[in-house]
Amino acid sequence: MFTHPSLSKCLELIDQIHQQSFGKNYGLLLTGLSGVGKTYLAKAYQARFPTVCTPEVNYYPVIYVKLTETKTATDFLIQIVKSLTSVIGKSANKAHIVQDRLAVLLTAHRVQLIIIDEVQECLTDIDGITSQRMAKQIAALLDNNPKVSVILMGTPVASRLLRLKYGKLTHRLKGEEQLSRRFLSEQRLHIIPSRCECWLLCCNYCATQLGLPPFTLNNKPILNRLHVATDGRIGLLTKLFAIASSSKHKNLLAKLEDAYLLGINSSAYNPFDTIALSDDDIIGILDSREFD
Ligand SMILES: Nc1ncnc2c1ncn2[C@@H]1O[C@H](COP(=O)(O)OP(=O)(O)O)[C@@H](O)[C@H]1O
Ligand SMILES: [Mg+2]
Repeated sequence: MFTHPSLSKCLELIDQIHQQSFGKNYGLLLTGLSGVGKTYLAKAYQARFPTVCTPEVNYYPVIYVKLTETKTATDFLIQIVKSLTSVIGKSANKAHIVQDRLAVLLTAHRVQLIIIDEVQECLTDIDGITSQRMAKQIAALLDNNPKVSVILMGTPVASRLLRLKYGKLTHRLKGEEQLSRRFLSEQRLHIIPSRCECWLLCCNYCATQLGLPPFTLNNKPILNRLHVATDGRIGLLTKLFAIASSSKHKNLLAKLEDAYLLGINSSAYNPFDTIALSDDDIIGILDSREFD
């Protein structure tokens, strides 16, 4: 795994949430642009706590749930249940029954931490009512299972989850509760900044993995072009290099150009076109992006 300061910080927080280091069982919402490495981080953390198999039952210290389209709050719970068992059972349409069943399963399998990825999938409604119900369901998940830590991950649109107002059971949806009370403030997994040693190390990590020659500080212009092409997202860099390594071209820039057009964007300007974009133009683009 390639680590950088933002990733280390997120990893430490995941660990603290898992250990319930802040006194109460606070949840954590971790957001980041697509391709910054959220899923990779979740899986890497989960791998540290392997399943323990006994003749009677398997223990899963950390479970990972990737949400797919989630239409109702009960759907949300069922997706967690499915990560523990393939038996969904009767009355799976009733939220309180699924809630109780999930609590039993979490205890039986000794689950300590649930990581829910792609959490923006439960916020797709237009009127916002379903989203409010989702927020309430997440609050109930924390309240019903005080020993189980919860981490949500998603793209930056998931931010609104913590701000949604929803009512207590007695007051319907009057809106005096917010998930933010039960959560730490939203944390971001950031892109890797351009023009720093970390970016050089990241490019070299990915290049080595994919059999491309490593870069040095003499390759600043191409390192800058790589940043423009991938926006500092390790997922896009991995993809770019993987496609580039299979290109027939001999010249590295030509390989990258090929890979960019094939794998990332065939319609926008191409950052590896040295005629259309000079080294200074590229620096201008990086500057303007940092300003945003
Ligand atoms: N820390 C990392 N070290 C090495 N490779 C990584 C790292 N983070 C991401 N990757 C690579 O980038 C790809 C995309 O990352 P992913 O975790 O799916 O991003 P996200 O979930 O934020 O969209 C991964 O499949 C992996 O190949
Ligand atoms: Mg992901």
